[in-house]
Amino acid sequence: MDVNFKIVSIISENLGEYMKFFAVEPMHYNLSKITVSFSNRPELCDYQCNIAMLIAKEVGQKPIDIASKIVSNIKENDEFEFSAVAPGFINIKLKDKKLTNYANLVSCDVNCGVPQVFHQRIVMFDYGGANVAKELHVGHLRSPIVGEALKRLHIGMGDKTISDVHLGDYGLQMGLTILQLKEDGYLDKFFKHIVENFDNIALEGVTLDLLNEEYPKASKRKDVDEEFKKQADEYTLFIQQHKEPYYSIYKKIRNLSVAEIKKNYEMLNTTFDFYLGESDAYPYIDETIQIFVDKKLARESEGALVVDIAREGEHIPIPKKSEDEPQRYKNPMPPAVIKKYNGGDLYATTDIATILMRNRTFKPHEIIYVTDNRQAGHFEQVFRCSKLSEISPESQKLTHVAFGTMNGKDGKPFKTRAGGTVKYKDVVGMLVESAEKKLAENGIVGDKELARKIGVGAMKFGDLSNTVAKDYVFDIDKFMAFEGKTGPYIQYTIARINSILTKANEECGQVCVLTEEERNIVLAILKLNSAYKVCYENYSLNALCLATFDLASAFSGFYNNCKILSEENDERRKSMLGICVLVKKCLEKALWTLGIDSVEKM
Ligand code: ARG
Repeated sequence: MDVNFKIVSIISENLGEYMKFFAVEPMHYNLSKITVSFSNRPELCDYQCNIAMLIAKEVGQKPIDIASKIVSNIKENDEFEFSAVAPGFINIKLKDKKLTNYANLVSCDVNCGVPQVFHQRIVMFDYGGANVAKELHVGHLRSPIVGEALKRLHIGMGDKTISDVHLGDYGLQMGLTILQLKEDGYLDKFFKHIVENFDNIALEGVTLDLLNEEYPKASKRKDVDEEFKKQADEYTLFIQQHKEPYYSIYKKIRNLSVAEIKKNYEMLNTTFDFYLGESDAYPYIDETIQIFVDKKLARESEGALVVDIAREGEHIPIPKKSEDEPQRYKNPMPPAVIKKYNGGDLYATTDIATILMRNRTFKPHEIIYVTDNRQAGHFEQVFRCSKLSEISPESQKLTHVAFGTMNGKDGKPFKTRAGGTVKYKDVVGMLVESAEKKLAENGIVGDKELARKIGVGAMKFGDLSNTVAKDYVFDIDKFMAFEGKTGPYIQYTIARINSILTKANEECGQVCVLTEEERNIVLAILKLNSAYKVCYENYSLNALCLATFDLASAFSGFYNNCKILSEENDERRKSMLGICVLVKKCLEKALWTLGIDSVEKM
């Protein structure tokens, strides 16, 4: 599915159309599209186009002749300067007038020049995915970071989004936790007396800290105690059947845990429209399985119900362990199990039933799932089953955005010094602490919320600067530096602009681009705004991080070389202040998209 954008703010696309209409079509070449891209030699030009090379090949002429002809077809104008250079490239420079116009256009655009989709779509985001009664750990950080940013990217570009955290709230962990609590004497009030209504009975003494002890205890025990495991399975089934008092206890634990999960996500500026979970798909499970049976897509295999999803002639690549290893394939895709021999429902079935529920309720054009890459096989199965059964209509796009692992400095998954799992909260704590230290160096003490904004911003920027699929190293010192490609550097640039604006204490004026530094800023804004489109298409935020950094450093060049406040010419000074306001607006928009707070001062 191709998404089109309103291209007002993407000058490269305007230029392609411009050249096609004024220069290439008059030569009787019919092309559907001319690609113009940012120059990789910025000292020579701003944009480049190699269409002449392509045409020349086709018609058997010299590329430079074609390029010269194209350029000569374009009249002198005060916006663009075209030139043909050997062996046949077309270089394009934007004149100051064009950059001035663009700067003022973005200054007064509510969307800050961020490209807008042509047709608004409903895009549903499934990320977070915390499991009730289990404590969040380091592995749970990337989904809210990446998912929130992708959601905001879509909002900023004009889509309608719906976000759902899709909690793991119906699994064995619930049965295990309740069984353990019961054995440890916390649930006597629920089990010792026969009561009609459990609503008014409190879970006395059951705190989050207790849950964080009880679940791991039960989880260890189930591996060695067959009877315990069997009973926990039974409890899990009771919950799913809404049997009392299991169901009431379950609901109370769920509420307790969800409140904590919400807080954890909010620390990372992540919020959801819906806190639904696997349990909400439960009423759709029977119908889901029935659809497969009715459509003759399911068959019995050793007592289980499976769906064959392999395709003809299919080869599934096996990930290579090293670059020089030859590509090998496994074949074919194994069948998906939708019902186990003991009748228990499965992760895949729940996800397919969730799609059925979402399509009844929200009818999204696309559902985007953000999880780590170990779930790639699971989603491939879910997507294939949903398409085969038409639970997901053909027109609906199902996308799995699979992220890599957050590693420690040793290149292995991030662990505590003792080799244990790092808690989610502890990571945030480390970030806040490190930001507090940095702030203290600048004479700011005692502002915890500011430290959170900077600490979390540092990690998010460090994370999102990589392509989503890649593993990366969690390097707190690198992320936290106030100079370089970091979140704090962008926040610092905004704080610096705030200080200039406060000192100036006057209205800014229309921008007029005159100097090299100002040109660089507006070109950086142009690049930033096309980066949004690249990110939208790639489901990754790295291009936006890079372009945001480039704009901040272009501002730095301007700030260092141009005297803003001491400029005596009123118009000139007001124009420079206009640039400050514009840069601030664009940086804030980019940070918002990345899910990072801007700060007033730091
Ligand atoms: N709860 C799952 C886990 O911990 C993640 C959920 C992801 N979303 C989904 N629709 N399956 O692995």
